Amino acid sequence: AKTHQHEFVIQTTPVKRLCKTHNIITVNGQYPGPTLEVNNGDTLIVKVTNKARYNATIHWHGIRQMRTGWADGPEFVTQCPIRPGGSYTYRFTIQGQEGTLWWHAHSSWLRATVYGALIIRPKEGDSYPFTKPKRETPLLLGEWWNANPMDVVREATRTGASPNVSDAYTINGQPGDLYNCSSKDTVIVPIDSGETNLLRVINSALNQELFFTVANHKLTVVGADASYTKPFTTTVIMLGPGQTTDVLISGDQPPARYYAAARAYASAPGAPFDNTTTTAILEYKSAPCAAKNCASSKPVMPSLPAFNDTPTVTAFSKSFRSPRKVEVPTVIDENLFFTVGLGLNKCPKHFNKARRCQGPNGTRFTASMNNESFVLPSNISILQAYEQGIPGVFTTDFPANPPRKFDYTGNVSRSLWQPVPGTKGYKLKYGSRVQVVLQGTNIFTPENHPIHLHGYDFYIIAEGFGNFNPKTDTAKFNLVDPPLRNTAAVPVNGWAVIRFVADNPGAWLMHCHLDVHIGWGLAMVFLVDNGVGELQSIEPPPVDLPLC
Ligand code: C2O
Repeated sequence: AKTHQHEFVIQTTPVKRLCKTHNIITVNGQYPGPTLEVNNGDTLIVKVTNKARYNATIHWHGIRQMRTGWADGPEFVTQCPIRPGGSYTYRFTIQGQEGTLWWHAHSSWLRATVYGALIIRPKEGDSYPFTKPKRETPLLLGEWWNANPMDVVREATRTGASPNVSDAYTINGQPGDLYNCSSKDTVIVPIDSGETNLLRVINSALNQELFFTVANHKLTVVGADASYTKPFTTTVIMLGPGQTTDVLISGDQPPARYYAAARAYASAPGAPFDNTTTTAILEYKSAPCAAKNCASSKPVMPSLPAFNDTPTVTAFSKSFRSPRKVEVPTVIDENLFFTVGLGLNKCPKHFNKARRCQGPNGTRFTASMNNESFVLPSNISILQAYEQGIPGVFTTDFPANPPRKFDYTGNVSRSLWQPVPGTKGYKLKYGSRVQVVLQGTNIFTPENHPIHLHGYDFYIIAEGFGNFNPKTDTAKFNLVDPPLRNTAAVPVNGWAVIRFVADNPGAWLMHCHLDVHIGWGLAMVFLVDNGVGELQSIEPPPVDLPLC
């Protein structure tokens, strides 16, 4: 196994998008940031220096961080932010993960432009469980704002309103052909004729679930979230923010130019969203283009599902299986039920309705899990407080079951729109076998929520619509070959059931990866204690760990 050393400098960089130059925050002046390429078993050492004017941290999305929770990165959860002028070196080892992950800032909305791919190839000498691709290309789907995204979120927080939607979607940082002033920078995706090519698709958008497709080509899904899947073929994939999907595409079409395209899956009825389409151009490299003016010919445009095509999303999501029988915990020590959803809070008396409560009917938007709106601490990280036994930072009374039973997906009375803000965790004993039913709600509006758990992969053993019914829905559990993921798309007005073994000590955030919902409180934290002996205990904090 190798050790890879990298330097990340977070800095302000001018980039031209949608006809204007904007100063954005980047890593090393690159947007998207550098692609990290490693093999399973390797160690990464990344020194991050913050030369920007915002606090920053970097999260290695999907990396298990076994016993290295101090390197996970969410601000005020596993570390205090790296202040402007400061630095921190993240050290961690890839253990048993192969495929595509990514890294991103985990501080306010900085990740809008601070993100990049993290590619994990098989251990040297090992091979892919599928035809070795001739070429591979990471495709990071993103969102672009003409305004500074940090200002967009600040304004939304101030007013309690829904933030402005993005001005464009991007593929590898470029909006592409269909947007003003963007044509000549459209990303080219080379593929080889008659060969197998691998596309590593990552949804790094802040707030939007996205469909992705390629004109005239079939996509064979072989992995997701750095776990292999039983291959299946489709024409369109859907990714929630945080999710990755590896697809094989064979160069079996006439050598012309084809668009790869992404646009919104917008599951919340009536909510505003950016209804534009980003494109890259798939170009056949090894076969000369037949037509004379091939290189300048208009690429073939694929058809994408309608923005609200939930049946396509459901069919896609239900196609995922592990490649073989897996070890799903069958005995459960912790049987948890968490509601996930949006709400509206009444305008507090001392607030000015017109200025600070601009949600529907003079309210403020909120979100919660089990009616608890998560609030980050501001002067210490939860992990530090947990490990050092510092009181007063968080409580451990996060409700294991929701405070009220009601028709989660029905029309709910206004009194239930009042989640309580707080910093609550739920303790897990080392090694406990955990099941969480994630129940989407229709308080204010239903929406598909991509729920991400730090520090773990989990099996998604079932999903469905309506209210989870413990009497009948357990019959739908797949305990044989369910997919292993780090982000589960909880169906709109539906539920998903996940299982994992709590074998990684630390403080692990679980949250909706639509970042607007994190700020509103759609998060909680699992506190996993140490097991017996050193190998079951978290390592001591690095000496340069940023403190507050
Ligand atoms: Cu990809 Cu908490 O993050």
